[in-house]
Amino acid sequence: MSKTVSRILFVDGPNLNVLGKREPCVYGNRTLDDIRKEVSAAATLAGAEVAFFQSNHEGEIVDRLQKARDDADGIVINPAAYTHTSVAIRDALLYCGLPAMEVHLSNLSKREEFRKISLVEDVVVGRVCGIGGYGYVLAFMAIMHILQGEKGNAYER
Ligand code: DQA
Repeated sequence: MSKTVSRILFVDGPNLNVLGKREPCVYGNRTLDDIRKEVSAAATLAGAEVAFFQSNHEGEIVDRLQKARDDADGIVINPAAYTHTSVAIRDALLYCGLPAMEVHLSNLSKREEFRKISLVEDVVVGRVCGIGGYGYVLAFMAIMHILQGEKGNAYER
């Protein structure tokens, strides 16, 4: 019996391309490339395929999520500032219909009031916040767990 390889797409929103230089006291010193290397190592161990996409433009993120319907099995997304504003990204997540995890480097609950609002939190399976880049690895593991059918009754897409 052939094993199906899970394809996980990582989507990062605006200003995450300058991680490492951007407000390091909030977001840490690691670059997006550093985080991607750690994710890739975890994916190799898990036997999964990963793809990475970052854009500073809302419409490009929408386009990529629409495409994910055909070329991915699960999503890990940090919509960054668009978390708090984008109905379009929320709608694109619904369109792609894949299990998605929301990840944030910082703990949004400890920050400004406007960051406590997420327009995607109720269309994702779960959220990881506040543990820096390692949150991407944990979100990846959660998506793999769900795709492997071990979700039990505790959570739904
Ligand atoms: C962020 C939190 C957002 O509020 C912010 O706009 C970001 C990064 C995070 O990863 O902590 O750009 O998504």
